[in-house]
Amino acid sequence: MAKRKRQLSLSVFVQLYGTHAHAWRQPEVAAGGPPSLAEWARIVQQLERGKFDFAFFADFVGNGGDEVGDGRRPRGGGFEPLTLTAALATLTQHIGLVATVNTNFNDPYNLARRFASLDHISGGRIGWNIVSSLADGATKSFGVADPLDHGGRYERAGEFVEVANKLWDSWEDDAFDHPNKETGVFYDPASGHPVRHHGKHFNVDTLLDVARPIQGRPVFFQAGNSDTGREFAAQHAEVIYAAAQTIEEAKSFYADVKGRLAKYGREPDDLKVTPGLFFHIGETRQEAQEKYESFRDAVDLSGRRQIMGVDVTNYPLDGPLPENLPIPANGRGRFQQMVALARRENLSIRELILRFSTVQGHRTLVGTAKDIADEIEAWFVGEAADGFNLKPSLHPGSLDDFIDGVVPELQRRGIFRTEYEGVTLRDHLGLRRPPNQNLIEPSARVAAAG
Ligand SMILES: Cc1cc2nc3c(=O)[nH]c(=O)nc-3n(C[C@H](O)[C@H](O)[C@H](O)COP(=O)(O)O)c2cc1C
Repeated sequence: MAKRKRQLSLSVFVQLYGTHAHAWRQPEVAAGGPPSLAEWARIVQQLERGKFDFAFFADFVGNGGDEVGDGRRPRGGGFEPLTLTAALATLTQHIGLVATVNTNFNDPYNLARRFASLDHISGGRIGWNIVSSLADGATKSFGVADPLDHGGRYERAGEFVEVANKLWDSWEDDAFDHPNKETGVFYDPASGHPVRHHGKHFNVDTLLDVARPIQGRPVFFQAGNSDTGREFAAQHAEVIYAAAQTIEEAKSFYADVKGRLAKYGREPDDLKVTPGLFFHIGETRQEAQEKYESFRDAVDLSGRRQIMGVDVTNYPLDGPLPENLPIPANGRGRFQQMVALARRENLSIRELILRFSTVQGHRTLVGTAKDIADEIEAWFVGEAADGFNLKPSLHPGSLDDFIDGVVPELQRRGIFRTEYEGVTLRDHLGLRRPPNQNLIEPSARVAAAG
């Protein structure tokens, strides 16, 4: 494949009402009621209008456990991501659809056939956000008596991905494309490659019952920030999320993860780094600032207060972050980033929560469309990011501001597409299609596995 010009990746972390915890309380939002496919489809079709690479659907399966909560956060409007992406695939034409699936609560055979099905249904537009987090609530939901630790979960995720890759490769691409009615031979048995995997977590002797995915396999996403998470990303992921506040922090993360690829036989371009981005856009800087402040002031601090799952309700709201907080089992990398931010800027708990619940640890840009485009371009050109995973505070308004203001600016600068040029999510991201492992020389397999 000829190397194409480096192009910015734009995507959205889709949340029903918007990223802001209190988006649902804004006057223009019709909140509540049963989950509505029409609502989710409307958002994703809006992204397709903006020529975005993909819509991303998070999932914190079973996370709440038996806690009914204090009733102050919206609930009940979401769908299980694989079911949702299947429906959305039929209601969209171009945009990639990325579903989060947790490797602790699934098994490779079932998941590989679901993703293979989705990739065919969508015409090659599917991605998998591989997560291995295990919140306390989830252990209760699934009756996990003896949860794996952080390293153990990443180890299971690694073996899970290895088995899934073998399953997707169990049939050659064109295995079922040449049925011969005269001879009665539907497929050549030599095109099937049974999987024989006997590992620590999985035992599989089988062939997948769905044809090889259009993309070879779904595009792999990963979001871990810990050292183990970064290593996992370097070995397997093709897109990694990041939560960086400053360009220096982002550059160092970018160089770090790209620098880890070579030992897995991979090129720097094989992994795209896309930090989260929260934004408020106005016709003027003053208007943008007012929008930002109105969202910040809408944050409700009356209920239970926590920072990355660590409860801080009993500490003075206007006091500093205590020194001796426990490090959460999940999200330790991001928790440490939050602590560093609080120390660097001398923030009180109130200020940190306000900063965090407005932006969820991601970078915030407030300004005109041109200001935002300038920053995006600087990070892109400066190798701090290959793109951005946007977190619009409110649907549909914040997204429209971006699509109608910032996207044309980026297009004028020649760093973002004006039309979809390819078909698959791999095409949009400029990622190569992985060859079938069974058809390449053993010595080349490490490189191709990336
Ligand atoms: C943008 C973004 C999206 C994420 N989405 C999910 C998700 O949908 N489900 C989930 O369980 N974890 C999600 N995470 C958490 C990560 O998968 C990971 O568990 C977390 O960053 C902790 O990894 P670490 O301990 O390696 O830092 C997300 C993280 C980020 C930054």
